[in-house]
Amino acid sequence: MATTEAVVYLNGEYLPRSRACVSVLDRGFLFGDGVYEVIPVFGGKPLRQTEHLDRLQRSMDRVSLTNPLSRDEWGSVFQRLLQDNPGDDRSIYLQVTRGAAPVRDLSLESDITPTVFVMVNDIKPVDYDRLESGIEAITVEDFRWRACDIKSVSLIANVMVRLQANARNVMDAVMVRDGLVTEGTASNIFVVHGGVVSTPPKSECLLPGITRDLVIELAQANGIRVEQREIRQQELQTADEIWLTSSTREIAPVVKLDDHVVGEGVAGEYWKKVIAIYQDYKRELRNG
Ligand code: PDD
Repeated sequence: MATTEAVVYLNGEYLPRSRACVSVLDRGFLFGDGVYEVIPVFGGKPLRQTEHLDRLQRSMDRVSLTNPLSRDEWGSVFQRLLQDNPGDDRSIYLQVTRGAAPVRDLSLESDITPTVFVMVNDIKPVDYDRLESGIEAITVEDFRWRACDIKSVSLIANVMVRLQANARNVMDAVMVRDGLVTEGTASNIFVVHGGVVSTPPKSECLLPGITRDLVIELAQANGIRVEQREIRQQELQTADEIWLTSSTREIAPVVKLDDHVVGEGVAGEYWKKVIAIYQDYKRELRNG
C-alpha cells in the first residue's frame, strides 16, 4: 500500500520529510542551540496556540534569538501543514535553531540565519481506560541546569533521566531538586492532598507548561481548590493522587512511585473530575 510522505516546513519551503535537510554545522545539531514547541491539535484546531507562541517568544528572548516569523506567519505555516498532512488528533512540532555558522565555534563572528523547522505528528488517541489504570514512576535527583523554563532542544538531561526510569521498567521519573519536587521528564506535576490540588510555582527549575496552566484554570473554574506552592519530596509519600501533565499525554495519574503505592493505587476521584472537564474543553475546541 502506498503511503504518502509527511510534508514538513523548512526555512520557507514545504517539502517531503525525506528531502528536508539541515547542515551538519547547524548549531542546533552541534550545540543543541535552539528552542522548540509542541502544540496539540484537536479537530484541526491548535490548542492554546497564542500561549504556545508566547512561550516560544519567551524562550527565544532568554537565549537572545530573534523570532524569524510573525504570529501570522507561524499561524499560516501551521494551517498549511495541517492541510497537507490530514489526520485526526495531531501535534505541531516547531523548532528554531540559531542556524549554521561557517565554523564550529561557540562564539559567533557574524550574523547567521536561524533554521526554522515545523512538522505535524499524529497524536495517538488517548485510551482513557488505559490512562485510568495509571503509570508507574521513580523519583530522581534533578541535576539539570537552572534554566529549565526555556523550552530548549538540549534535552540530554531529560533523556538521561527518562532512560534511568525505563531501565527500572517504569514510564517516567519525577525530579526532585534540593528536596523540592520540580517536574516530570517531559511533563509538569500535580499532587492532591485532602481535596486540594497543588503544583510547584513557575520558576527557572521547571517548564511553564501550557497544559499545567489549563488544568489550573479548568479546575478552579469548576470549584476545585488549586495551590501553586513548593512541594516537598516527602509529600509525595502522603499524596492521595499524583498527576503528570503535558500537551501530548494530557493528565496521567501516577499510581506507583518508587516502591510506594499512591493513594488507592488507581486513578483518583480528582483525576476523574479534572480529566472529564479537560475532555469537555477539547470537545468544545473541536466543535467550536
Ligand atoms: N514536553 N516539562 C517539560 C520538561 C516538558 O518537556 C513538557 C512538555 C512539559 C509540559 O508542557 P506542555 O503542557 O506545554 O506540553 C513540562 C513536550 C510535550 C515534548 O517535549 O514533547
